[in-house]
Amino acid sequence: MFVFGTRPEAIKMAPVINKFKKDNRLETIVTVTAQHREMLDQVLDLFKIEPDYDLDIMEDSQTLTGVTAKVLGGLKEVLVKEEPDMVFVHGDTTTTFAASLAAYYQQIKVGHVEAGLRTGEKYSPFPEELNRHLTGVIADLNFSPTELTKNNLLAENTKEKSIFITGNTVIDALLDTVSEDYQFENELLQTIDFNKNKIILLTAHRRENHGQPLEDIFNGIKDILNKNEDVRVIYPVHLNPKVKNKAGKILGDTDRVHLIEPLDYEPFVNLMNKSYLIMTDSGGIQEEAPSLGKPVLVLRDTTERPEAVEIGTVKKVGTDRARIFKEANNLLNNRELYNDMSSKANPYGDGNASERILKRTLYHFDIISNPGEEFKY
Ligand code: UD1
Ligand code: UDP
Repeated sequence: MFVFGTRPEAIKMAPVINKFKKDNRLETIVTVTAQHREMLDQVLDLFKIEPDYDLDIMEDSQTLTGVTAKVLGGLKEVLVKEEPDMVFVHGDTTTTFAASLAAYYQQIKVGHVEAGLRTGEKYSPFPEELNRHLTGVIADLNFSPTELTKNNLLAENTKEKSIFITGNTVIDALLDTVSEDYQFENELLQTIDFNKNKIILLTAHRRENHGQPLEDIFNGIKDILNKNEDVRVIYPVHLNPKVKNKAGKILGDTDRVHLIEPLDYEPFVNLMNKSYLIMTDSGGIQEEAPSLGKPVLVLRDTTERPEAVEIGTVKKVGTDRARIFKEANNLLNNRELYNDMSSKANPYGDGNASERILKRTLYHFDIISNPGEEFKY
């Protein structure tokens, strides 16, 4: 049984689910908590996934306690009825942790996809660092995207034989979705001249950035626009009211800033591919952009994804207004620096992560005798 609830979990689980569904040696059940609603449904539609169970828990301005309690309570019934042999969860959301705990209470095994990411800072990102840590403690199979994430788990005394390096499933999704000749249906995006204007794609939503950090980010964006007349900013705004209200207040009337609704995954990744620069506090976008050769400025003080920072396509700049302006301004005006940062590098996967997860699972349940080591990543 796959359990997930938010947009990024859905994007990253979709290729795994579709791979599992094609294998008739397994019965695949999909349960969504709907911690997100509209942003989840967009992804389910795109990847043609029809959930077997939908807990439909989302509330406006929901709390961590509320989400945790509803997932725990709602899943119990589903797990008791279906008795799955394994529950698969993804990443580090509150759905991820609460679903793992619900499975543990029923003594059902847990497979953790995207296991082992860490910053080492309990409150950054909040609550994701603890969510993934606690999920890791519960998990029986850990599918780590990279060597470094495997090593993080080993350093916590996780059993080595439970950890498999697979690559990140987001690359499976990305490679299936991005195409050079993609045409936007969105009317605004159709009017943008990507050759004449330098497009900055902005996203921001993290809880630890709510309040003053978001204000500083948005004011930094205004500074960039004031100094660079050829720049336009496209910002698909997360539906969280704390983000939406602040974005509307500070950037709503700013020339050359386009605040739009969250985009479906297909236009979003194709917009990434056509943009000049990406500024974000998102986790998933930090993994996708290097594959597209797009420089990323990370609007956070910590990142659990240091691989692309080391390669040099992603830079951590935090939320200080002056620093944000300086780093973006450099990239907009220094060609050499830009070219250095925009080399294509793909530290997160080769598009076959889902296949590896399937093989490992079949092997775990003695359905195949070879876990596909020749397919090692
Ligand atoms: C959640 C995850 C975060 C992940 C992010 C991806 C937790 C605690 N946080 O944060 O790790 O990076 O998703 O986007 O698990 N809303 C809607 N419609 C939607 C989605 C959200 O209206 O489709 C609004 C609701 O008012 C909701 C609020 O956004 O209460 C916050 O949603 P929530 O899932 O609690 O937090 P996110 O910031 O989305
Ligand atoms: N994304 C999307 N539409 C948008 C913004 C982002 O489809 O308008 C995708 C993006 O390509 C990435 C994922 O959503 O795969 C990231 O989700 P988010 O930033 O909400 O969460 P995080 O990765 O930070 O947990």
